[in-house]
Amino acid sequence: MTDVITTTASTAHPNGAAKTGPLKGLVLSGGQGSRLRPLTATGAKQLVPVANKPVLYYALEQLVAAGIEDIGIITGDTHPQIEAAVGDGSAFGAHITYLRQSAPLGLAHAVITAQEFLGDSPFCMFLGDNFLKQGIAGHARQFLQSKADAQILLKRVPDVSALGVAVLGDDGRVMKLVEKPKTPVSDLAVVGVYFFGPEIHEITPTLKPSPRGELEITDAIQGLIDAGYVVESSLIDDVWIDTGKKDDMLEANRVVLSTIERRVDGDVDSASQVVGDVVIEPGAKLIDSTVRGPAIIGAGATLRSAYVGPFTAIGERCELDNCEIEHSIVLCDSTIREIGVRIADSLIGKQVVVERSAQRPRSLKLLLGDHSSVGLV
Ligand code: TTP
Repeated sequence: MTDVITTTASTAHPNGAAKTGPLKGLVLSGGQGSRLRPLTATGAKQLVPVANKPVLYYALEQLVAAGIEDIGIITGDTHPQIEAAVGDGSAFGAHITYLRQSAPLGLAHAVITAQEFLGDSPFCMFLGDNFLKQGIAGHARQFLQSKADAQILLKRVPDVSALGVAVLGDDGRVMKLVEKPKTPVSDLAVVGVYFFGPEIHEITPTLKPSPRGELEITDAIQGLIDAGYVVESSLIDDVWIDTGKKDDMLEANRVVLSTIERRVDGDVDSASQVVGDVVIEPGAKLIDSTVRGPAIIGAGATLRSAYVGPFTAIGERCELDNCEIEHSIVLCDSTIREIGVRIADSLIGKQVVVERSAQRPRSLKLLLGDHSSVGLV
């Protein structure tokens, strides 16, 4: 359960009533993912794996662990991939309803898109690319028991300039939200997990697009506050990662791998070494290779004369031959071969080939998608 280290004083809005529950879930898996290009040119950013599991799965598992099983997933252009990965939700113990958003017009627009699905139910909105380590069960219980009309989670962060922040009143109640503050007004960042009662649907139709052309959820919450509704907050002590960029994905991967327990189900030959907390999935093969944990080697992957160092997740069916890699994520079906320098801090997509070529002239031969980035030594 997530630690709730501070909870604001709760005086319910005069109209506030105890919630009848159960909470529905609303997971946002549309958007553009522009900060994770080129991976998101072909795939949904919510399906980028953390310790070989799509980041979206963690949100779904945490909703179900909090007793939230009726879940709507907002999707956009990547709808087919999201649906193929999640299905009807039965694998998670959930019932999933897919809600197609016409365009990524903002988080509050996603709430409008989901209005019919949500009906009068209180709900938890979880951004499908946000990662919490400990989950939301405590917060869900707190919201259901309170008479608040909304509840947001806050996390103290050193640099809030790219985030939404909350300003709290003396009584701890949320007074104001500021999106990407230019001058520091607070160090309390708004986490991508929100709880709302049906009152939010009174506010969303009144919103106007922000300067970036989106209907902002911060404006919707501000609208609740301005209309006299009660918005509570919990200051969390949990790990929270908004996995919008490569280094955020690597950090989430590091956090999850730090918790894994050793399990060797693949084949490890006598010339190989598996050190520490390492998961070798069934069908994976280690030949004359070393894996130093925490790390995970996906099913069907083959390592030959390779070194995989800490905080690395190698996807299913990857082939690593005479190379070294650490603190990296490699998606499935990729090949890394005969590379003379250690690869680190890297996020490598699906079916990628990185190899040394004997062809003359000796030169770098690159076929990179738009927005790729290569760091040479
Ligand atoms: P963001 O990270 O705010 O937006 P984005 O996905 O467009 O990414 P980028 O800024 O890199 O271009 O979105 C947070 C989550 O909400 C993410 O899972 C995508 C989802 N989302 C929607 O489902 N609909 C929307 O209209 C928007 C803006 C985001």
